[in-house]
Amino acid sequence: MTENNSELAALRQQARAQHDIEEAITNMFASEDEALRYALSAAKEAGLPEIQISPIQGKLLQLLATACNARKILEIGSLAGYSGIWLARALAPVGHLITLEVNPEHAEVVRRAFAKAGVNNRAEVRVGKALDLLPELESEAPFDLVFIDADKPPYPQYLDWALRLTRPGSIIVADNCIRGGKGFHEPSGPKDEYAAGIVEYNRRIANDPRLVSLALAMDDDYTDGFAIAVVKG
Ligand code: SAH
Ligand code: DHB
Ligand code: MG
Repeated sequence: MTENNSELAALRQQARAQHDIEEAITNMFASEDEALRYALSAAKEAGLPEIQISPIQGKLLQLLATACNARKILEIGSLAGYSGIWLARALAPVGHLITLEVNPEHAEVVRRAFAKAGVNNRAEVRVGKALDLLPELESEAPFDLVFIDADKPPYPQYLDWALRLTRPGSIIVADNCIRGGKGFHEPSGPKDEYAAGIVEYNRRIANDPRLVSLALAMDDDYTDGFAIAVVKG
């Protein structure tokens, strides 16, 4: 019993230490300004789910956009515009972000958040199912960075489109690729199409000779995170 208690105390201490580190990284490298905080509170007020990326993930998207000298960015799944603001801010003044969102109410929240952040001159929301809108983007390709964060079952199809719409040196990022480990194992039941989409996505980016890829645990207490794939030159 005493041993259990001290083990528990050690685990609690470890969890606290992890939170403190994450908070310190966020404060030093990825602090939110008023516009990002506005996007979050507007989303909450509109009753949207709180499933946006973390500030550290936002900063990582900016870092990746900078690394590939991004002028054109495509996002699939806008929600309230939180990740879109991080992305749009990494663009050169001549750059352009297109973000796809199926829910018109979400899209309205996004437009207001983009205006508040002063990025509405370079960030555009298109409303519709991503798989319907993606074929229209061929004339606007290649995109330097694609961020996939919409519904999970079609992630492999989004990857097909991302590969079509990018160039050597482009970066393809997908959120929620770990899901507490479910992202790496065959789903337990036929109904688990959410996990099936992610598992297939991970398997494909890990084995595609055109890509250098890595899944990175960084969110939700290191149980979820991005998978990042660079298109080889
Ligand atoms: N990238 C956002 C979070 C996106 S949440 C952020 O981090 O701030 C997922 C979003 O994808 C939701 O707004 C949902 O409405 C949208 N979505 C779900 N299915 C979609 C589809 N088939 N096509 C386009 N958007 C979709
Ligand atoms: C869900 C979707 C997301 O994009 C996310 O970041 C977290 C959760 C979901 O549908 O549960
Ligand atoms: Mg997500």
